[in-house]
Amino acid sequence: MATEPREPAPRRPRLLMVPPEHYGILYEINPWMHREVSVAASTAVEQWTRLRDLLSGPLGADVHQASPQPGLPDMVFTANAGLVYGDRVILSNFRYPERQGEARHFARWFEEHGFRVEYLPAHLSFEGEGDALFLGDTLFAGYYWRSDVRAHSRLSEMLGVRVLSLQLVDPHYYHLDTCFCPLDEQTAAYYPPAFDDYARRVLAANVPQLIEVEPAEAARFACNAVVLGRQVALNTGCPVFESRLRDLGFTPHATPLDEFLKAGGSAKCLTLHLDRQPLS
Ligand code: ARG
Repeated sequence: MATEPREPAPRRPRLLMVPPEHYGILYEINPWMHREVSVAASTAVEQWTRLRDLLSGPLGADVHQASPQPGLPDMVFTANAGLVYGDRVILSNFRYPERQGEARHFARWFEEHGFRVEYLPAHLSFEGEGDALFLGDTLFAGYYWRSDVRAHSRLSEMLGVRVLSLQLVDPHYYHLDTCFCPLDEQTAAYYPPAFDDYARRVLAANVPQLIEVEPAEAARFACNAVVLGRQVALNTGCPVFESRLRDLGFTPHATPLDEFLKAGGSAKCLTLHLDRQPLS
């Protein structure tokens, strides 16, 4: 008797992270960073490890790790390494010289792990998934503080996807992933004051269900959440957003990330999705 074809086991989502061995506030390139506020190194390691274990345990991800490099304290924020699409990665062109040294280390990691590394023209800044998030088959892309709007049209040509450009206006929310979080094909959370009027209209017209995050929770980086199916990993201190998530059928997992807020980053910034797939 013929056996029933078995469903292939669902693939575990893959994420890239960099351990915080060389993390610290060595310069100031966003309003959250103050050199005089020191990072508690052992707490940072503990918080990072808890996040990694949450993602690879209950949230079911395969977490890959790239090596941290001395003198590149922001390398922990791997969302800025580039934008993965299938087996391709569009590498970031970091705006500030302080972070530009990260690019070659990330390029090497991608090459060694079977990705095709592609480059934007050098004069166009682009900070990877920090400023470019898919919702369905549309790429929502932030610009002004870190990425150039002209990089978006190049991205659209290179990837053959629809890109909607959104201007960011508040320096505290300098990357799109600090103020916008796609939850599923229909739904995204956002912090409206981070966007200009036109961007807010673009969002309203293109996202069927928009969830507003309140100011105090936006400042706790509520939008900077890692979404894996219906599971959401985020910083502590966002109870209103958490209960909204539950109402929508998501399960929030709060984990303390205060040491990383000191550099202007949280859960999402600390991870890069390695399996964004072109929809066929
Ligand atoms: N200190 C880093 C910077 O200013 C934080 C990056 C946060 N990353 C993110 N994807 N939002 O570049």
